[in-house]
Amino acid sequence: MKIVHAASELFPYIKTGGLADAVGALTGSLADHGHEVSVFLPGYRLAREHPDAAKAELKLRLKIEMGDQFMSGEVRAFSPRKNLTVYLICREEFFDRRAPYGNGERDFEDNADRFIFFCKAVVETMRVAELRADIVHAHDWQAALLPLLVRETERRHGATLALKTVFTIHNIAFQGLFPAAAFARTNLPEELNNIDGIEYYAQISLLKGGILFADRVTTVSPRYAQEIQTPEFGCGLDGVVQTRLEDLSGLLNGVDDAVWNPATDGLLPARYSAAEMKGKAVCRAELLKRAGLDVKFKGAIFGMVCRLTEQKGVDLVLANQAFFLEQDVKLIVLGTGDKRMEAELRALAAEAPNKVFLSAQLDETMSHLIEAGSDFFVMPSLFEPCGLNQMYSQIYGTVPIVSRVGGLADTVIDADELPATGTGMMCAPSVAGLSDALWRALALFGEPPRYVAVQRRGMARDFSWKVATAGYEKLYTDAL
Ligand code: ADP
Ligand code: GLC
Repeated sequence: MKIVHAASELFPYIKTGGLADAVGALTGSLADHGHEVSVFLPGYRLAREHPDAAKAELKLRLKIEMGDQFMSGEVRAFSPRKNLTVYLICREEFFDRRAPYGNGERDFEDNADRFIFFCKAVVETMRVAELRADIVHAHDWQAALLPLLVRETERRHGATLALKTVFTIHNIAFQGLFPAAAFARTNLPEELNNIDGIEYYAQISLLKGGILFADRVTTVSPRYAQEIQTPEFGCGLDGVVQTRLEDLSGLLNGVDDAVWNPATDGLLPARYSAAEMKGKAVCRAELLKRAGLDVKFKGAIFGMVCRLTEQKGVDLVLANQAFFLEQDVKLIVLGTGDKRMEAELRALAAEAPNKVFLSAQLDETMSHLIEAGSDFFVMPSLFEPCGLNQMYSQIYGTVPIVSRVGGLADTVIDADELPATGTGMMCAPSVAGLSDALWRALALFGEPPRYVAVQRRGMARDFSWKVATAGYEKLYTDAL
């Protein structure tokens, strides 16, 4: 099949979260299966600085209609592996910035224009370069206008650009909501600027466009596909989701084994597997050292890696700080984001520098080291479309403590409820729920044979992309 993907993040070129890992792994795996895959990505500064992108060739100069003006841009392309072409949509004014979405405090003011431009540039490239896709697959709000723009452009030019369109919701909390005035820059017919189109309470919602106008809608776990139909998790779009139930499905993400595998992980000081666990102790010592903690510490290490945001349950961890201060345990956190959460974690680390450590930056190496060197991974998300770290944790022999929501509920089994098959600890997404799970974790750690059994079952689980890729191939085939 000829498959065109469009997303705002792609590992290893640009990543702020799991979107990059998921799109990177899915597109690579589809290419390995022999499909002809193109991935469109904004030409962010970081992506353009990647060594692979140095080989990118200029494919096309763009003139994109944006309301009543035209904006220029360029398309550069390179091929990092067989059957895979990465197209960078470049326009320095929009994408030559230090971060993809904002300056750390606030989102960029021109995000509507940046991503409307991105989607239009993808369609224009498909048209001019005659890519003739079987499937166009757009991810999250930044690419959500694509299915609609494909159909609109086909109508205008009397050409077929793609046989079917697919839209994947990686997180319904991010909706691409912009002032109504942004609609003019889409150049879509005015009849789409209403409740049956992309209008949303006197604003526009790009995500809504993806949900309404793609031929198939997917999300990243079966449980989240159910949850987003409810007011509790739908973030106001549950009604819109409900209009697409016949075409909606939830396909669980996998783990990219080339990046996340303790037996081959080049970012670790030592490698290990279920058969030979010595390397995990080396990783543990290195982690303690990097955190400035006692390297001979024998108690439980709780690790955490996440965007610091309400979603990830950071406040539940902060509310349980007495546990980390009073018990003979360590808490090691890697995360950036919300300034208030960062300040509170920093204060906690300052209060107990021999117990709590925070690294407030993006650090790929440290994220692998925490997965490998910890005993428990803390992920009490309030909602979680899929979540990748709880899967990485299991494979790395680090027992996850997760709330019972979304993809977390689909990928972890509670070891107290199901002693014969359990791989982690599950809790209600509340302060008391997490507290209970932390105490149960400590009890588990106090019984080494039981801890090791839980750990080994996690390591034996198969989260490979094989299953997910087969799921998407079937979805594409069914759609066609
Ligand atoms: P989300 O996409 O909602 O952030 P996921 O669990 O799907 O959550 O994926 C998060 C990804 O981002 C993981 O690969 C995780 O290791 C990574 N990550 C999060 N914060 C950091 C950080 N500060 N440094 C490095 N990697 C991080
Ligand atoms: C989003 C979600 C996360 C998911 C990731 C990849 O960022 O928050 O749960 O794992 O996308 O699909």
